[in-house]
Amino acid sequence: MKTIALLPALLLLGACSTAQKETATTPPSLKDAFADSFLIGAALNTDCTNGLDPATDSLVSLHFNSIVAENCMKSEKINPSEGVYEWDDADNFVNYGTERGMKIIGHTLLWHSQLAPWFPLDSAGNNVTPDVMKQRIANHISTVMTRYKGKIHGWDVVNEAILEDGSYRKSPFYEILGEEFIPFAFSCAAAADPDAELYLNDYSMASPAKRETYLKIIADLKARGIRIDGIGMQGHMGMDYPDFAEFEKSIEEYGKAGVGVMITEWDMSALPTVNQGANVADTTAFNKLLNPYPDGLPEDIDREWNERMGRMMDMFMRHADVITRVTAWGTDDSKSWKNDWPMKGRTEYPLLFSRSLTPKPFLNKYLNK
Ligand code: G3I
Repeated sequence: MKTIALLPALLLLGACSTAQKETATTPPSLKDAFADSFLIGAALNTDCTNGLDPATDSLVSLHFNSIVAENCMKSEKINPSEGVYEWDDADNFVNYGTERGMKIIGHTLLWHSQLAPWFPLDSAGNNVTPDVMKQRIANHISTVMTRYKGKIHGWDVVNEAILEDGSYRKSPFYEILGEEFIPFAFSCAAAADPDAELYLNDYSMASPAKRETYLKIIADLKARGIRIDGIGMQGHMGMDYPDFAEFEKSIEEYGKAGVGVMITEWDMSALPTVNQGANVADTTAFNKLLNPYPDGLPEDIDREWNERMGRMMDMFMRHADVITRVTAWGTDDSKSWKNDWPMKGRTEYPLLFSRSLTPKPFLNKYLNK
């Protein structure tokens, strides 16, 4: 009798411990947490996509449903000399994402930085003519996009074209072709892969002047019937920037302009701000004051950092109707470019995962919802 009476309780206990086991073996993931809101992505370096970093692979496979190439698709890497293409790393990156069913983002087709040195110059070292520049842009975009046609979800077609004051960056593309280089690049990209999304991508997107220029460019492309699908608002942030209200206004204004909004390259420096931009050419001499926490973040700074990141994530959630993707610029803190910028040897804490690969506390409310 006793045994029979105990049976339901024992069965229940068994069910509970099975459920607990399942919960314990399947940690909550960011991609599930944000599934109803937007894609959640990370920039990957070649160690991960070339199979040399299994720990990062596990983290990425669990948490992210989108990836972007941190460096291997930039022109100096993929097209180092005229007519010469180095595909290995980019192929591995694309295969990595394809095998895991991820939305793959190509970064980037036209960018002044890490631009292959041959690209804007003739054999005498002078800028090429506008016609030659157009031909080179068309060839580069067509060759790279065609190789990955059908596999890449979206491309950063033009990266960092506008300065904080709203003027055009005096890049070789601008010097040779003027403002027309942007519509030209988007036309080439649309022709190369009609199914890939096409984006503009830039940092300091809280700047009102920059916002105005990008809104004009978007309106101009649309008026001319040239396809643009989204704008990437690079999220390189710090403890005292960007202005949250202006950043949010940019999200709203771009949304109203009829393009998808992506928070790209998200990271928030926890160290004193040296420079608000993201130009790797800006370096300062090594200074211990600029590397104040080599052994870990003090509790109060860690709390403040998590509070700021949480407020940002809440902002992204408020605008999930227009935000299509949020992508971190790296995986764990050890993988951030910010450890080397604006000087080498900084110990930074800007990403969503700590060096021990655990999610940062601000994510808990989403992961445990
Ligand atoms: O690959 C070489 C390696 O062969 C060499 O031994 C080593 C020596 O320093 O350098 C390696 O190249 C480095 C490359 O990263 C790969 O690690 C470059 O020096 C270094 O400058 C390069 O930095 C990248 C930077 O873009 C270049 O402009 C960062 O990793 C990358 O995170 C950063 O990303 C940019 C985005 O593309 C655009 N927005 C801003 C963002 C931050 O600057």
